[in-house]
Amino acid sequence: MRLSQDVIEDIRTGNDIVNLISSYVVLNKRGQGYVGSCPFHNDSTPSFSVSPDKQLYHCFGCGASGNAISFVMAKENLDFFSAVKFLADRINYTIPENSFDPKAKYIQNLKKEIISMNTIAARFYYDNLNSEFGQAAREYLDNRKILEKTRKHFGLGYALNRKNSLIEHLTQNGFDLDILKESGLVIETKKGDIIDKFRNRIMFPIFDIMGKVIGFGGRVMDDGMPKYLNSPLTPVFDKSKNLYALNFARKSKANDLILVEGYLDTISMHQAGFTNAVASLGTAFNTNHASVIRKYTNSVTILFDSDEAGVKATLRAIDVLSTAGLKSKVLTLKDAKDPDEFIKKFGAEKLFNLVKNSDNSINYRVNLLKSKYNLDNTDEKVEFTYEVSKILADLGDRVLIDAYAGEVSKITGISEEAIKSHLDKISTTKINDLAFDNTKKNYIPKDKRMDKGLINSVKSLIYIISFNRDIYLKIKNYLSPDEMIYDVYKNLLDIIYKLHDKNENINPADLVSMFETQEEQNAVSEIFNTVLEQEDLKLTEKAVNEQIKRIKIRNIEIKIQNSKNDVNQTTLLLKEKENINKLNITLIDG
Ligand code: UTP
Ligand code: MN
Repeated sequence: MRLSQDVIEDIRTGNDIVNLISSYVVLNKRGQGYVGSCPFHNDSTPSFSVSPDKQLYHCFGCGASGNAISFVMAKENLDFFSAVKFLADRINYTIPENSFDPKAKYIQNLKKEIISMNTIAARFYYDNLNSEFGQAAREYLDNRKILEKTRKHFGLGYALNRKNSLIEHLTQNGFDLDILKESGLVIETKKGDIIDKFRNRIMFPIFDIMGKVIGFGGRVMDDGMPKYLNSPLTPVFDKSKNLYALNFARKSKANDLILVEGYLDTISMHQAGFTNAVASLGTAFNTNHASVIRKYTNSVTILFDSDEAGVKATLRAIDVLSTAGLKSKVLTLKDAKDPDEFIKKFGAEKLFNLVKNSDNSINYRVNLLKSKYNLDNTDEKVEFTYEVSKILADLGDRVLIDAYAGEVSKITGISEEAIKSHLDKISTTKINDLAFDNTKKNYIPKDKRMDKGLINSVKSLIYIISFNRDIYLKIKNYLSPDEMIYDVYKNLLDIIYKLHDKNENINPADLVSMFETQEEQNAVSEIFNTVLEQEDLKLTEKAVNEQIKRIKIRNIEIKIQNSKNDVNQTTLLLKEKENINKLNITLIDG
């Protein structure tokens, strides 16, 4: 779903940044702007400033920076589109229908209908639970030690033991049977009757990240089969993409998420204070789930059932998470089949200590493998060493591999040299000299060798070009956006050139929301938060020339580096470099 830039800007400008941020942070007027304690890092001195003119915020402590949309993305942990919708709701702005194409509009409406139907269904199930018909269900939840306030928090309910109580309730509320069929709340019998899908079950509403009811799970109260029924794929629900309780977990103060297997595990965890627990439901944890998680954190603690299936699922989840660039830790439970049982048997504090000390996933895999071999037997020891080497070679990080080679040597008594040389043999194609940067902020690589001065040149050049159309006209033939370092600066300068060509105004906060990730928004916003000295034009002329030269020289040096073996090419490039050094664009006539 894409929104037009106009709509996005309507919504952004409707949310004054000072007003918006004031509902999260105490702001005090200072000079032209406002200051307060930064909500994004532990701030003792107020280093967070908000500019009503620019409609941007900036923290001098941690570097956080952006416009109203960036703020909501960061503070509410939302993606770009959801943040825009959040801001639209905040000012009661109805996104114009014609900003979606007709098919999208139809689906949008259908989704709305299904969500309102789900909401009414959830309410109905909740009321049932607390009615005279809900006694057995209440007793079931009592037995499972789910407190009243937890039931409310998760909206737990009960589906009556009747064929069509929900259908009746929903049609009374004016919903069409057609839409009911799309919602997954009903099923068709072999005879062709439409009946309630969930009957005589404890009901678990499933929420999206905004807290809207997108589906349900229903558990039997005895040993009946299947134990759980889940909503099928619908226009609003896809179990392979949603994580249970993420709507709560994304607001948790914890830095990581805890991944558990089931509904009741999640609920018990939250009840015990682990509000960062989530679960994939009725399906294995997959790459879609991992990409959702990556929006919120880069580290996950896996806490699955302690049976064999749980171990298998753990190994799979480690793999999925690491492919997605996320760090994982593993917690293995002893004397309890799952976290729900563990909490009941041993209490939340015990679990808290375990979580704190959970194993990193490499250790977990090495130990798991070790437990399968008798290391007193030489053949098995060799076999173990070969198998464990496969795990280590896959890590793709020299330092890690070295460290673990030492560990394996200690376990097996095989010399470190022998293990390393074997690792070298099997991993030549896999080891990268540079460790994969799997932090969230990899948009602008934190390359220590990258000249900080160069980045500053790029930033101030973009700043100057943005606000001086005359300078733009003079330099546009000398400098193309493609010459910028990093995609974000290339794209930004490209936009600025186009706006100048169309003779349009350039507004920093608008520019920020043309980028959809927080890293890009931060990079763009930073440029305009830097307050440049009001230099006279003569100085600007010198600075602009210096900046352009610096950018061009760097590009040419990279080319020279790459053409080392080609003498002719190198000569040409060196000539070009000389010319660049002579570059002198006149910005002032006469
Ligand atoms: P479990 O069988 O471990 O159930 O399935 P549980 O969550 O521990 O529930 P209790 O404590 O026995 O009541 C883990 C998850 O797998 C999915 C559900 O999401 C469940 O929470 N599942 C399980 C199904 O979708 N269908 C089933 O029939 C069983
Ligand atoms: Mn379980």
